[in-house]
Amino acid sequence: MWSPIVLLLCLIPPVFLLFFFQYRRTFKNSNLPPGPRGLPIIGNLHQLDSSNLHLQLWKLSKKYGPIFSLQLGLRPAIVISSSKVAKEALKTHDVEFSGRPKLLGQQKLSYNGKDISFSPNGSYWREMRKLCVVHVLSSRRVTSFSSIINCEVKQMIKKISRHASSLKVTNLNEVLISLTCAIICRIAFGRRYEDEGTERSRFQELLNECEAMLSIFFVSDYVPFLGWIDKLSGLQARLEKSFKELDKFSQEVIEEHMDPNRRTSKEEDIIDVLLQLKKQRSFSTDLTIDHIKAVFMDLLIAATDPTAATTVWAMTELVRHPRVMKKVQEEIRNLGGKKDFLEENDIQKFPYFKAVIKETLRLYPPVPLLLPKETNENCIIDGYEIAAKTLVYVNALAIQRDPEIWEDPEEFLPERFLYSTIDFRGQDFELIPFGAGRRSCPGMLMATASLDLILANLLYLFDWELPAGMKKEDIDTEVLPGLVQYKKNPLCILAKCHM
Ligand code: HEM
Repeated sequence: MWSPIVLLLCLIPPVFLLFFFQYRRTFKNSNLPPGPRGLPIIGNLHQLDSSNLHLQLWKLSKKYGPIFSLQLGLRPAIVISSSKVAKEALKTHDVEFSGRPKLLGQQKLSYNGKDISFSPNGSYWREMRKLCVVHVLSSRRVTSFSSIINCEVKQMIKKISRHASSLKVTNLNEVLISLTCAIICRIAFGRRYEDEGTERSRFQELLNECEAMLSIFFVSDYVPFLGWIDKLSGLQARLEKSFKELDKFSQEVIEEHMDPNRRTSKEEDIIDVLLQLKKQRSFSTDLTIDHIKAVFMDLLIAATDPTAATTVWAMTELVRHPRVMKKVQEEIRNLGGKKDFLEENDIQKFPYFKAVIKETLRLYPPVPLLLPKETNENCIIDGYEIAAKTLVYVNALAIQRDPEIWEDPEEFLPERFLYSTIDFRGQDFELIPFGAGRRSCPGMLMATASLDLILANLLYLFDWELPAGMKKEDIDTEVLPGLVQYKKNPLCILAKCHM
């Protein structure tokens, strides 16, 4: 057995060396953005809590400015919190800022970056993203999915109508996550699960656990030689377990699609498209089953939560602001005419409704720090030298609530978008809920089509009231920790059929 003294003596040289290299780097590059002082080895890790990182970084930006440095263990990091610096990074230096850091949970669940979101910048990512944009997420494909989206939204309306006729409160968090889950199950792998069945809950639990693993804090990502802490804490085993379950699920789905006796529906799903691409060998890398599983996982997670979360936030703000609710319902009902259901084409005629969606995405970007990036090369931003392999957070929430840009930034005021040309498509850096530049969200078309259809029909077909004894001031905006900003306490309100 080694005595503690011998262990200590063995630890001193590596710790000393780390100390030396960390400080040499800081000293050598004196033109780093300012930032809070950290401790040896762990840097600023002890000052941050991953459960509401965007809020803590926002607070720090008020002290240290629109670009500041952090030392996260052995990883240097910068945080960008103004639209001007975001534009410089994501437009002028788009190529340098298009990498992704290799983080344990994200690498494991993406089969070592074989997906799109967590794949490093390179020819594989470029080709896979292009293929997905052309074959899976194009406007032609989104139109072909519209019958599925319409059908699932109609099922949701039936469910809420049943609640309304029995005067039962509707839990919108539950209804909307179940809807977006149903849409993605059909679009991605052609399955329709029973609403409250065990298969559906197995799938939903799997998604929740994977999402947690993508954002959870692993010590080994920041101080690799302390990686044993992840083993001791049980996190490593939890990650292995989620990966195994995800892999088993994807394997079942793929085998089902490869079965020659499978009954095919007339709509191709995403797995069909990916398997065809594999067969055609139109790809420069040989596509393996792992590549398909990785892209499949990516699209499942990317598509389900942010869409549901945005709709819940929109309804939350509308219930808290009866004036806006009345105005948007009048617009939709006057311009929409008399129908059982609003289609995507009807919705394009509603300017105030579109402003409500923009204002929701401004006040609550569902992914407030976008996805973390990593610089590929050294570059100069806002006059500071940023080294290659620096972790980069772009704080979209701070930008979208910046009082220098937005009047009354904390207020829900859709009117601000009525006569403004600012849009969320990645050209206006004041509003970047889908990111900007080459790593921006390729699913924006599908996301906005679903958001429009779900929210417009909820407002067109139902009037919404608070349950007895509840006031609008009682509705909180607390957020669940995680990659996606989801309302923590469910929004439970009463629906009344309008027609
Ligand atoms: C309201 C809904 C959605 C929001 C707010 C949203 C937002 C985002 C954001 C902020 C990013 C990171 C951008 C960056 O790092 O700069 C992202 C990436 C991504 N999103 Fe979305 N998203 C939504 C829906 C979807 C949907 C429906 C899909 C696909 C079906 C999708 C697929 C992706 C993919 C694949 C990436 C990774 C892109 C890359 O790294 O190249 N998203 N999304």
